[in-house]
Amino acid sequence: MKITMVKKIMEDGKECKKCGEVYERLKAGNELGLIDNIVTADVRDSRSEGHKLVKKYNVDIAPFFIVEDADNVTIYKTYMELKRKVLKKVVEEADVDIEERRKAGTEERSIDIFHSVPSKKSISRSDYDIEKLNKEFENSTPQEVLEWGLKELHPSIALAWSGAEDVAVVDMMVKINPQARIFTLDTGRLNPETYNLIDKVRQKYGINIEVLFPNAAETEEMVRTKGVNLFYHSVENRSLCCNVRKVKPLKGMLSTLNGWITGLRRDQAVTRIASKKVEIDENFGGIIKLNPLADWTHKEVWDYIHKNDVPYNALHDKGYPSIGCAPCTRAVESGEDIRAGRWWWESPESKECGLHVNSK
Ligand code: ADX
Ligand code: SF4
Repeated sequence: MKITMVKKIMEDGKECKKCGEVYERLKAGNELGLIDNIVTADVRDSRSEGHKLVKKYNVDIAPFFIVEDADNVTIYKTYMELKRKVLKKVVEEADVDIEERRKAGTEERSIDIFHSVPSKKSISRSDYDIEKLNKEFENSTPQEVLEWGLKELHPSIALAWSGAEDVAVVDMMVKINPQARIFTLDTGRLNPETYNLIDKVRQKYGINIEVLFPNAAETEEMVRTKGVNLFYHSVENRSLCCNVRKVKPLKGMLSTLNGWITGLRRDQAVTRIASKKVEIDENFGGIIKLNPLADWTHKEVWDYIHKNDVPYNALHDKGYPSIGCAPCTRAVESGEDIRAGRWWWESPESKECGLHVNSK
């Protein structure tokens, strides 16, 4: 099912009052994620996409909603009607879906306010010719890759944002689709600068960021038996901590999605030089994994951030080119590798925390 909202832009360039009110109601009800596409009918431009839809469906009211389901197209002229006949049903279906997953034991995280966003469909490897897509994407911009992913899978695709320089992808995504979904894994051990950035980004772009926490009981058990700073003692302990604080919450999130987006780049590490722009992530249920920045360099990311005035983590100005959890990240000396400050006590070959097992 695809839901399109058509809003009207008035002579003065502002959206119609009613359109704004309906948008706010959708937002307040956590229903924006259910709208696949928002287009505008600009009264000053008869060629605008929304205008074409107004003509096509002969509608004289704004906003209105176009619901495409298989071969059926239905027009809804009020929010209440859409809510009653469509949104409520979608949410109920999603709840049943989640209940089934829970029973099957695959729903690992607690359900948050976004749980009502449905998985669009089950995808399988045969749905996409990954090799062909990668050939096409090799010369594509990150925005083109994102546009493809969002068009194909939104709202069943989300960006995993670490709170570091991958904020460039947040900026690109929000410009393509303001409803694009973004989540971050709050390990409980992040730097204050990272928390500050999460809120700054939330405010600047007016977006919700889905913040995921590790399972409390499991974390308590881990620190009780191994200590709060267990990661310094062995690679095994470090992997355990990353597994509990990052990988498991990610796994729970990805079990509700058909695709995820990352800020991975080939120039980040020896473990990432073979990263493709589009992959099937076998490690997380065979869903799509998009790495739109795969072929960008550190410099290209920073040029984008400065050119577009994107807010960034204050730690970057304190010598941190790469940022993870506070106790596992330090500043680097000039000339050192950009990931030299991550788990600096380990060798480069083991410096992965389990989020990106396939990207080798
Ligand atoms: S890590 O595996 O070594 O921690 P890195 O910090 O390089 O990863 O980030 C690579 C990508 O992994 C990020 O662009 C982001 O997509 C994802 N990622 C890493 N940490 C997090 C996090 N805390 N929350 C969400 N995504 C993350
Ligand atoms: Fe734990 Fe360090 Fe991994 Fe963060 S980066 S989850 S603190 S081991």
